[in-house]
Amino acid sequence: MSFLFGSKNNGQKTAQKTRYYRLEGIPFFLLSPEDRDMKMKELSTLLSQAERGYIYISRAPGEYEFEGTKFPIITSSFNLITEKEMDLETAEPPKRPKIKKEHAKYLQTMEGYARVLVSYRYSTRIYEGALGRVDFKQMNPELFETIIQFQKIPQLSVRNYLNSLEMKKMKMAKYANVSTAVEEMLTSGTQLKKDIDEEAAEPIKFRFIFVIHAKTLQELESLTRELMKTAQENGMLLDTPCCAQSELYNFEGGVGYRISSNVSLAKFYPLVGFNLVEPNGIFLGTDEKGAPISINPYLATNGRQNPHWAITGTTGAGKTTTGAALIDRLRRAHGEIYVIIIDPMSNYNRFFTNEADLNIVFKDGDYVGLDPVALAAEGVVSSGDIADFLIESYGIPLELRGILVSQLEQNRSLKELTDNLESLASKKFATEYRKLENFLLNMTSGADKYVFTGTPPNLKGKRFIILGLQTEDTRKKRLAATMLMLYAYSLINKLPRSVEKLILIDEAHFLFEYQSVAKIIAIIYRTARALKTSMITMTQLIQHFNMNQYSKEAWQLADNKLILKQEKEAKDDLVNFAHLSEEEVDYVLKSSRGRGILRTGAITTRIQVQLTEEEKQRWRTE
Ligand SMILES: Nc1ncnc2c1ncn2[C@@H]1O[C@H](COP(=O)(O)OP(=O)(O)OP(=O)(O)O)[C@@H](O)[C@H]1O
Ligand SMILES: [Mg+2]
Repeated sequence: MSFLFGSKNNGQKTAQKTRYYRLEGIPFFLLSPEDRDMKMKELSTLLSQAERGYIYISRAPGEYEFEGTKFPIITSSFNLITEKEMDLETAEPPKRPKIKKEHAKYLQTMEGYARVLVSYRYSTRIYEGALGRVDFKQMNPELFETIIQFQKIPQLSVRNYLNSLEMKKMKMAKYANVSTAVEEMLTSGTQLKKDIDEEAAEPIKFRFIFVIHAKTLQELESLTRELMKTAQENGMLLDTPCCAQSELYNFEGGVGYRISSNVSLAKFYPLVGFNLVEPNGIFLGTDEKGAPISINPYLATNGRQNPHWAITGTTGAGKTTTGAALIDRLRRAHGEIYVIIIDPMSNYNRFFTNEADLNIVFKDGDYVGLDPVALAAEGVVSSGDIADFLIESYGIPLELRGILVSQLEQNRSLKELTDNLESLASKKFATEYRKLENFLLNMTSGADKYVFTGTPPNLKGKRFIILGLQTEDTRKKRLAATMLMLYAYSLINKLPRSVEKLILIDEAHFLFEYQSVAKIIAIIYRTARALKTSMITMTQLIQHFNMNQYSKEAWQLADNKLILKQEKEAKDDLVNFAHLSEEEVDYVLKSSRGRGILRTGAITTRIQVQLTEEEKQRWRTE
């Protein structure tokens, strides 16, 4: 090397270029413990290979496009900024608002205001995933940045540091005056020693930096308060450093004094990407971080299949509307689907007047024309189950069950059955037949005849069927809805297995009230899966799913459980039946429309069902 190369030149030669790499968000909270461990190992390797730099995470309002409609969501992007050459996809430097003026505790930017906060203390215990949980619950900032500044340090200097801690410890034991700060240092020192000795970890200095952006100073203040609060809940104390705002904002300055290891740092889960987006999924809404939730009920991968739903929410919580969104979007994305809606409040009749291939409203005095004997003959559910439905509906004594079942098996229509009973009853020693005949007479006389006699609607060749009821008569509602449900299911059984199908039953709570009807629903939940059929039932309270063994079974068989706002009385069931945590119970009791807990498979998330303005107009129920 020639002497002519001055130090300046030399410096230029060694100065490395800052490189930007794209990292992928990892859904840590949705992963199994084994997968989580594996991802954390990858992350700690990454930190160690990069040696020094920043993990830069930014979250800003974005859009999720579903079938040509754009929904507002929050998008997260993850970058690694380092001078090292890495085997990763490169990225553009992030676009950030430029600083206009620096104040002591905030910045004025070209787009508003910003504030830099630094975490300066941690609780003695590192909460796994803490960084992924530091977030906003009330308001979402325009732009929120999280920066993890890190730098590998030599093993030797760490050994010295650990030794000095040992000395401190001994001294303190002598004087017995342990300050919290020192105690925390000792705890993290012990952890670090453990990481290095047992996990071959590498020591790293680090600092967490948070940047909030807001349109106004007032907004900046409330966001600051909120961020400090959620950070504290996760064991991190934040501070707004005075006078270093622009330096920190611009990724300048040293890394600080806190020492940890690549292994421990990974446990903070900096790369939390929360998207619950399934292939060909139906966009439903966003989770508490604003990330999209998109579920495909017909997805069958790795044995995971999630066709069935249970939706519960107090009056006005948004059940019917959520069902409308689900069906409308499903029909747009899965064009070949068959949909049958049983609509006891006749809402869907109104929502989908133009789209439905068959849109029927049964009013008082209209004949539904559904014959349970004929349906029993079709074998969709057994004669025994139909018999139990009639027994419960007509208070038929149980000792008559045997002959009822055999009559259902021998006849092919209600007319045939009643004629047959009549002739049997006229014979000698036929009091049992006479008794049964008397009970069943109610089916063909009085108000019930509207349900069981007449001509049924023809569902053949129709893809989108809405069977609505307009009556205040709860009994009629229950009888008619049960029959319509059986009729719908008999159609489903005749359709090709390979096509996607769906049955939705709104206001199912008064169906679950009758054990025999609940049983029919449970049977559909049980058997529909093999027919590529999705079943959705909706009830006002979680208790309605906890009413009898069959309503419970329906709940258990629902792969997607959506719990919207509940009343106080639901508390016990939310804890003991739905197994929600105390925090989740609180959330559900206080929630507003379209907001709740979604449990899909093993994943539990909070959801806000998103509607476009147009959908809100179309599906108004109040
Ligand atoms: N996600 C949402 N976003 C905005 N508005 C909504 C949302 N969900 C429901 N709403 C509105 O709230 C009102 C009540 O909703 P909906 O009728 O779906 O409630 P429900 O749970 O079915 O009540 P009920 O038990 O009385 O039938 C509707 O006018 C609807 O437009
Ligand atoms: Mg409703």
